[in-house]
Amino acid sequence: MFDLYSIVRPIIFLIEPEIAHKLILKYLKFINVFYKHNNDDPRLKTNVGNINLSNPIGVAAGFDKNGEAILGINSLGFGFIEIGSTTPKKQIGNPRPRLFRLIGDQAIINRLGFNNIGHKLVLKNVKAVRGKPIILGVNLGANKNSKNFLEDYLEGLRTFNDFADYIVINISSPNTPGIRDLQGKDNLKQLIDRVLAERKKINQNGKIVPIILKLSPDLMNSDLKKIIEISLQKNVDALIISNTSLARSAHLSDKEKNQSGGLSGAPIFSISTKMVALAYKYSSGKLPIIGVGGICSGHDAYEKICAGASALQIYTSLVYKGPKLIKVIKKQLLLNLEKDNIKNIKDAVGCKNSKYLD
Ligand SMILES: Cc1cc2nc3c(=O)[nH]c(=O)nc-3n(C[C@H](O)[C@H](O)[C@H](O)COP(=O)(O)O)c2cc1C
Repeated sequence: MFDLYSIVRPIIFLIEPEIAHKLILKYLKFINVFYKHNNDDPRLKTNVGNINLSNPIGVAAGFDKNGEAILGINSLGFGFIEIGSTTPKKQIGNPRPRLFRLIGDQAIINRLGFNNIGHKLVLKNVKAVRGKPIILGVNLGANKNSKNFLEDYLEGLRTFNDFADYIVINISSPNTPGIRDLQGKDNLKQLIDRVLAERKKINQNGKIVPIILKLSPDLMNSDLKKIIEISLQKNVDALIISNTSLARSAHLSDKEKNQSGGLSGAPIFSISTKMVALAYKYSSGKLPIIGVGGICSGHDAYEKICAGASALQIYTSLVYKGPKLIKVIKKQLLLNLEKDNIKNIKDAVGCKNSKYLD
């Protein structure tokens, strides 16, 4: 498989990370015109929260916050795309620099702070691709200076309900002070009640858009357990586990390791996979999970599925390994299924759950 990215990566890495990312998005926007529908091996088919996917690999939120390059990204072979986080009002985010490559650790630290063009313009981008058979999730955040975070999520739901295949309530960004508090028991109950009531109100006779909560990998086990109980009780459709981490492992070696912000990539693989396994166990496999955090190979992807994830997302490894990774992961997933004598991805979900609990 020819790998253009491995040739251009050294040049891309000479460019300041945020500018490099903008250039990559521009390229992907340009290849929008070469959009093609994916033909995946039927064994890769999966389902998460009533969303049917042709393969389990999605692009994680933050990669295309504004939904500018949806078709180009889709043509790389993803089974689904999540755009955002987007907020009601346009937001410039935190002062630069705010995005750091930890090359030695195959990681990134970001403290972008929900920089995005706001709901109205993101909606325009979403509407432009809605005729295509693409599974598209919209990840909702809240404006930093919002008087009421909950209202921001409700506004997002009203805006994107008719156009999204699923909606993510992102209550786990480490870069907007106060947002993670919504993961607390009482706040969370109120949030879910209001969001689900709003969804009911909007959809008197129409479609029911799946609502997915995105969680932090820094939660204590007891808090995760409570979140699972509440989510099951209130019929949340799925969880995304996990967002970036504020914790810093002692094994990090890069000079940027002490930057403040959320850590992503290889160093968070173990903690986020363990959390997937715990969530699967606490919910007895009844709450679908999208596993994200540090997936860098087909082997990692398979491990997350065996731990309990029904679908997966990647971001940081795309920066280090390029788009070829998606095809590689899909191929390696199939090889792993064959090795373990498992018929398809759906049957592999949670099949080695206990292995990841310690
Ligand atoms: C630069 C950057 C920006 C991100 N922005 C968002 C965001 O806006 N909303 C969100 O829910 N997650 C965001 N994330 C988190 C990712 O969606 C993902 O949960 C996390 O990076 C772990 O996956 P990874 O290790 O494959 O990168 C961002 C991650 C990075 C690296």
